[in-house]
Amino acid sequence: MKLAQDISLLPFNTFGIQAQAEYYREVTTVDELRDVLRLRKQPVFVLGGGSNVLFTGDMKGLVIRNAIEGTVVTRRFKNKVWVKAGGGTVWHDFVQWAVSSGLGGVENLSLIPGTVGAAPVQNIGAYGVELKDVFVGLYALELETGKLRYFNKIDCQFGYRDSFFKREGKGKYCIVSVVFSLTQHRHRINISYGDIRKVLDAAGIRTPAIGDISRAVIQIRSSKLPDPAKIGNCGSFFKNPEVERAVLERIKAAYPTVPHFDVPDKNRVKIPAGWLIEQCGWKGKRVGNTGCYEKQALVLVNYGGATGVEVRHLAFEIIDSVECRFGVRLEPEVSIL
Ligand code: EPU
Repeated sequence: MKLAQDISLLPFNTFGIQAQAEYYREVTTVDELRDVLRLRKQPVFVLGGGSNVLFTGDMKGLVIRNAIEGTVVTRRFKNKVWVKAGGGTVWHDFVQWAVSSGLGGVENLSLIPGTVGAAPVQNIGAYGVELKDVFVGLYALELETGKLRYFNKIDCQFGYRDSFFKREGKGKYCIVSVVFSLTQHRHRINISYGDIRKVLDAAGIRTPAIGDISRAVIQIRSSKLPDPAKIGNCGSFFKNPEVERAVLERIKAAYPTVPHFDVPDKNRVKIPAGWLIEQCGWKGKRVGNTGCYEKQALVLVNYGGATGVEVRHLAFEIIDSVECRFGVRLEPEVSIL
């Protein structure tokens, strides 16, 4: 079992940040993963699609890129099927496979960058659907012991862009496969998110099929979010903050049209971070090689050659300015390493 040494991680993170890994290995099977771990190079960092990480320096120890792929139907019920997908499968490839196989449930999550194994870590979500809505369980290898563990939905403790794997389980596991429950017929069509309805209406589609929804989401995402192949980015850099209703009322006094969304807790609301950032004048602003994207203020971008430290610096300037003006402290969604 050979490890590559002193490898550039630039091709392996969508921000396009230069960082070196002391040791690097791509694994395509669980056995290969176990063999690599037996070499006891520490610390170990597992990389998926690299679409939610910001490297602010070189990585000591071993970086493992999870490339365990493959999608199989494991159980069939009357209307549902369970599908097991390898953790290294590209997320959008999985979505496209589901849609073209006529399986519903993940079409609203089209075009999200990253891999299947990374999806549960932050409970990816978009356009009214979250990963947890179609999740059955996952298999993860404990890095310390090499043991394979099964986690059901409760074990994963999903929250908004959050799970066990972002907290107690952080850095301890490699997610090797994920089991989803998808529908064969009578799909639960979700077009509650305003933008989707608008795109479907414009196309004259009244009763959308899952393929129509996937295409609408792809159209919306491509129009608002930069393509990482052209401009380095990690999607939303910050989470949308949840605040007390009293905070919203205070903001409303000065900005009567502040957008907000209800959350299960009736005393709280969510305010789009993109709006808060835009009000502070950051949208479209470039600082050196980094900046705040012109079409969606929640996204920080690398115009080429930006360092992770530069991006982190901009992120914290934004956090401070939003806090100063609105008294709301934004939290990064991206893992800053
Ligand atoms: N807004 C602004 N200015 C901006 C951006 C947004 O005022 O520059 C306000 C507008 O009022 C807009 C509202 O924010 O109506 C919502 O914007 P958008 O629909 O673009 O969604 P978002 O809340 O900014 C979240 C997710 C996205 C996901 C979209 C659609 C988070 C952190 N982000 O963004 O997820 O695609 O909803 O569901 O929850 C990601 O996680 O990487 C990601 C892209």
